[in-house]
Amino acid sequence: MSKTERTFIAVKPDGVQRGLVGEIIRRFENKGYKLVGLKLLKPTVEQAQQHYSDLSSKKFFGGLCEYFSSGPIVGMVWEGLGVVKGGRVLLGATNPADSLPGTIRGDLCIDVGRNVCHGSDAVESAEKEIAFWFPEGVVSYNNHSEGQIY
Ligand code: PPS
Repeated sequence: MSKTERTFIAVKPDGVQRGLVGEIIRRFENKGYKLVGLKLLKPTVEQAQQHYSDLSSKKFFGGLCEYFSSGPIVGMVWEGLGVVKGGRVLLGATNPADSLPGTIRGDLCIDVGRNVCHGSDAVESAEKEIAFWFPEGVVSYNNHSEGQIY
């Protein structure tokens, strides 16, 4: 059974520039996930390099970090049952060439280098990314719609 988790989701600079923030938030809200952290920020190249440090040996690393720090991003923390995996299902495959219609990337982009959003790929990386982008912590609250008792 899925557990309540948190994940870090970012609308990347191209997503913000294209006015897709509301659309992406809407899909997570409609699914039933709870927003517990939200901020608009412009990452420095150093922050981008830190965020993507696992990819430092990839040939696209420089371009990815330059792109990620090229304009404001919207960083979010979403909470819910199985949200790490479920959030990535909403985002769709990393490469829009493979993302299915109905997913964010499948519906909204065509280029892996401009794929509008990021989502943590595991619970451990989510914890790391949330601590990195939200060092002040997130907001805990009860949703009145969360009436289900298991
Ligand atoms: S890999 O090579 O399998 O580790 O990479 P992958 O998991 O597919 O993607 C990790 C992040 O790298 C981004 N990416 C790219 N950016 C720019 N250009 C190219 N060619 C490229 N290939 C992959 C990809 O969008 C992933 O970013 P996030 O923000 O995590 O989705």
